Amino acid sequence: MLSLVVLISGGGSNLRALLEASEDAEFPARVVAVGADRDAEGLAHAEEFGISSFTVPFSSYQNREEWGDALLEQILQWEPDLVILSGFMRLLPPRVIAALSPNLINTHPAFLPEFPGAHGVRDALAAGVTQTGASLIVVDESVDAGPIIVRERVPVHPGDTESSLHDRIKPVERRLLVQAVLDIANGHINLKELARA
Ligand code: GAR
Repeated sequence: MLSLVVLISGGGSNLRALLEASEDAEFPARVVAVGADRDAEGLAHAEEFGISSFTVPFSSYQNREEWGDALLEQILQWEPDLVILSGFMRLLPPRVIAALSPNLINTHPAFLPEFPGAHGVRDALAAGVTQTGASLIVVDESVDAGPIIVRERVPVHPGDTESSLHDRIKPVERRLLVQAVLDIANGHINLKELARA
């Protein structure tokens, strides 16, 4: 059984998909804890499913490194096999990435390497593309340029707003994430190999 720590900053719809998938006894992974960098709305999903959570507010620390060390300490207490950044909107310091790599993955609402960064949906719309996507990557020290685990195209429709487009991307992200966790658990996806390639 793969143990997961999921880090969020927002609504946590991807987190919820994992919590729901975990309810199936056959699903080979379990969320053991949910972490946040702020009082994130999505922490309510953890509570609803009876999963422990922790918050390490960025604003309570002198700098990114101290915040990262405190976050890492919380994460490691759970001895997770895999840490998932699921709408976690802070860059992790190199020490944290080194400690968790390659078992640290990130969801992104664009077809990476297109439109990296905090505004993947907005940037795709601004660029006027007719298709964007959803991606899952192994986190490294780059901003959203780590090895791609899986990605899928999502069409942009005329008249789309950031919110309508994000709403079309999110179900794809959820499906890719749940399937990838399954594939990591059963060995069909090997993060070590992906990170080495
Ligand atoms: C997701 O679309 C995720 O890919 C994105 O934030 C959303 C969080 O949704 N992450 C990034 O943009 C990271 N650069 P959720 O809180 O409902 O799961």
